[in-house]
Amino acid sequence: MSTKQTPAQPRPTVPVVTTEHVLPTNTNPHGTMFGGDVLALMDKTAAIAAIRFCRQPVVTASTERIDFRTPIRLGDIIEAFAHVIHTGRTSLIVRIDIYAERPFTDEREHCTSGYYSFVSIDEAGRPQPVPPLLVTTPQEQRDWARGAEIREQIRLRRAAERDEGP
Ligand SMILES: CC(C)(COP(=O)(O)OP(=O)(O)OC[C@H]1O[C@@H](n2cnc3c(N)ncnc32)[C@H](O)[C@@H]1OP(=O)(O)O)[C@@H](O)C(=O)NCCC(=O)NCCS
Repeated sequence: MSTKQTPAQPRPTVPVVTTEHVLPTNTNPHGTMFGGDVLALMDKTAAIAAIRFCRQPVVTASTERIDFRTPIRLGDIIEAFAHVIHTGRTSLIVRIDIYAERPFTDEREHCTSGYYSFVSIDEAGRPQPVPPLLVTTPQEQRDWARGAEIREQIRLRRAAERDEGP
């Protein structure tokens, strides 16, 4: 009997949207949202996108640099959009975009975006394979290319850290 496993079929990404209302407990004395709360929302939403894609446990391995370009204010409605853009053997990259909507107008601003890397782990905490991402549209191809650049940066960063030692 052969023990060879059938390779997983490519799967499409399923976008995830999380919506929250910015309350006084989420804001600093200037009336704008705590950066840490924005990061937590990004991490949680990105993790849901990763889990829904592979239907396996994942851990956050790293994030790329995140710049807060526009303040998010008390009372704003904040939306986080996440989707998987790239898969490796055991890791995947999720892009996440944050929008703030003023509650009583149709004004809506893109506040920040980020790229989160997740690694799927088995019961022993060891990396395990993820299914490949199905890439069809021109936008998905551009996203994939961006993910490939990020993977290469991560590879170089990890190699440099290994060379430096603890
Ligand atoms: C993430 C983790 C599972 C990687 O384990 P590891 O033994 O170092 O992984 P490996 O060197 O075998 O690499 C496995 C995969 O992880 C990726 N990876 C490892 N470290 C990474 C990092 N810092 N950023 C992005 N990807 C990373 C590798 O590129 C590789 O991807 P591939 O299989 O798609 O090519 C491990 O470091 C870990 O458990 N970290 C703690 C995660 C955690 O607790 N997160 C919550 C926040 S604290």
